[in-house]
Amino acid sequence: MSRLASQVALITGGGGEIGGAIARLFAREGAAVAAADIDLDKARAVADGISTKGGKAVALQLDVSDATSALAAVRTCAAAFGKVTILVNVAAAVTPDGTAETLPLEEWNRALAVNLSGPFIMCKYAVPEIRKAGGGAIVNIASQLGHLGVPGRAPYCTSKAALLHLTRVLAMDHARDNIRVNSISPGFILTERSSKRVGGKAKAAKANGRRHLLNRPGTVEEVAAAALYLASGDASFVTATDLLVDGGYVAFKGYVTPDGGFE
Ligand SMILES: NC(=O)c1ccc[n+]([C@@H]2O[C@H](COP(=O)([O-])OP(=O)(O)OC[C@H]3O[C@@H](n4cnc5c(N)ncnc54)[C@H](O)[C@@H]3O)[C@@H](O)[C@H]2O)c1
Repeated sequence: MSRLASQVALITGGGGEIGGAIARLFAREGAAVAAADIDLDKARAVADGISTKGGKAVALQLDVSDATSALAAVRTCAAAFGKVTILVNVAAAVTPDGTAETLPLEEWNRALAVNLSGPFIMCKYAVPEIRKAGGGAIVNIASQLGHLGVPGRAPYCTSKAALLHLTRVLAMDHARDNIRVNSISPGFILTERSSKRVGGKAKAAKANGRRHLLNRPGTVEEVAAAALYLASGDASFVTATDLLVDGGYVAFKGYVTPDGGFE
């Protein structure tokens, strides 16, 4: 339970379901954790839960699309725990569906500002701190929809696809700083956010589970386990890569049938 002993992790979207699971697992593995979210109450709930169990955590308010806010979050995390060694970019905007013709330009701009510029801005301020600490790791949460398109979701799919490539270039830029940069592309993970468009978790699990070879949606803990691997010394020779944590979703063009076959 000490794969992240003496590490300090700043987690954007740390009040959310996947971000919260990552924060809790990292804290259990010995990291001091800053749960940073635009929704401070949600970040507080995660940090308080960790503290109650004896872990080290603070909650921060953060808008990843705002450079001033990002710099303040990095500084506050470094001040609270003496350094920053891990950045996990989890925050993402909820964008309405629409085509180039119908979607307001503001929605496109907002999605890219949060989902793509957000991780870039966070790196701008976190990289000098991580370098100062002697190196560390950055993990970007992308998506299976960065690999596959879905009609009506251009801002989300495009921002996540670009995040995959940003990850590779960041890895090139900061290898000499002893900073590894990787991404995770989750499949359909059962959260409030992902289930809303399908009418709730139960319906979403049924409708989307069978798109995965493993015939079920993923859990937030399964994404957190992958983030732990990439952030820890276990992945010491892993950089510039994307880890699909998708139950085979991207490889599989079909559906699992009720009898366990494929169609
Ligand atoms: N759930 C899935 O099926 C799934 C699949 C693939 C990828 N993902 C990715 O995983 C991540 C987390 O998703 P989730 O399902 O846990 O959603 P979530 O809504 O529970 O978490 C997202 C968090 O980001 C925060 N946030 C939004 N805008 C922000 C901003 N500007 N600055 C800081 N924080 C901000 C929200 O308040 C929220 O707490 C997202 O990047 C999402 O794209 C999710």
